[in-house]
Amino acid sequence: MARGKLILIEGLDRTGKSTQSEKILSALGDEAVLLKFPDRTTRIGELINQYLTDSNFELPAQSIHLLFSANRWELNSEIHSLLEAGKHVILDRYVYSGVAYSAAKEIPGMDISWCFNPDKGLLKPDLTLFFSNQDSSSLQDREGFGEERYEKIEFQKRVRHTFSNVFDHISDPNRAIVDVSDRSIEEVFRYIEPLFRTVINKDLEGFTYF
Ligand code: TMP
Ligand code: MG
Repeated sequence: MARGKLILIEGLDRTGKSTQSEKILSALGDEAVLLKFPDRTTRIGELINQYLTDSNFELPAQSIHLLFSANRWELNSEIHSLLEAGKHVILDRYVYSGVAYSAAKEIPGMDISWCFNPDKGLLKPDLTLFFSNQDSSSLQDREGFGEERYEKIEFQKRVRHTFSNVFDHISDPNRAIVDVSDRSIEEVFRYIEPLFRTVINKDLEGFTYF
């Protein structure tokens, strides 16, 4: 049986990642499963959720970084099994968010290379779609923006910049940038559908790893 494909939707906060991930899932039906990182339902995920939503719950930047990575590792073998069973796995955020949000904090010693290290060896997606918008100022208007720890315009601007450095650091020919500014949900979906369908129809053997 052909293995399933690993499709990653990445990007800044509130660029429509979750909406499009759901649309891909509906388009693929029961051939696919959708997983979201952080997965807030595990014990590690509960800690991450607390960190993101409770400004009184402090952790060193290194510790929360490692928890986000640990959260990916705890699902790695499940993702592997799903792919081997022929299911396509759609991920809503993954390694690139992990590296970019932490490195954007600009903590001495916590550079991109340090941040990437604990994720080395995780399954690498067959396709990564990076959702980007022209500037972060429109974020202010998105419903609910500002409720969680990293939802601050200044920080988002740094994350945007850091993502492009992360992409320089981690090479990947199977990555595409999707500019979502001024595009409706349907327009974005029309743009990405041929991209993920092409990957799904490929006959790939074996896996690649970060
Ligand atoms: P979410 O809004 O997609 O649920 O993600 C929650 C926040 O966590 C978001 O601001 C991005 C951030 N994040 C990290 O800092 N590191 C990670 O590894 C992941 C997956 C997300
Ligand atoms: Mg969010």
